[in-house]
Amino acid sequence: MREEYGKLNRMEMSIWECCELLNDVVDESDPDLDEPQIEHLLQTAEAIRKDYPNEDWLHLTGLIHDLGKVLLLPNFGGLPQWAVVGDTYPVGCAFDESIVHHKVVLVS
Ligand SMILES: [Fe+2]
Repeated sequence: MREEYGKLNRMEMSIWECCELLNDVVDESDPDLDEPQIEHLLQTAEAIRKDYPNEDWLHLTGLIHDLGKVLLLPNFGGLPQWAVVGDTYPVGCAFDESIVHHKVVLVS
């Protein structure tokens, strides 16, 4: 994956353009499927800003924390959900009940 994605040759865009691209993504592990991904990014960043107003680097971290989900899109490789989103497919340990769909184990 490092070799494949380390070339950085797929697309050039701003962070905001990447945030907007996430509106084309459906994260099957997300319990708020009705909410656009960009809403999730903004709500996360704003919640962090409220709790930690002086940590601007942390606000940014909240904003960009899910940008890797673009890997689900065809232009970025169209990887399967299990390889990109984390909550539904942890491995190597017992499934915690706080995990969305923790009773479902999918292996592909
Ligand atoms: Fe997230």
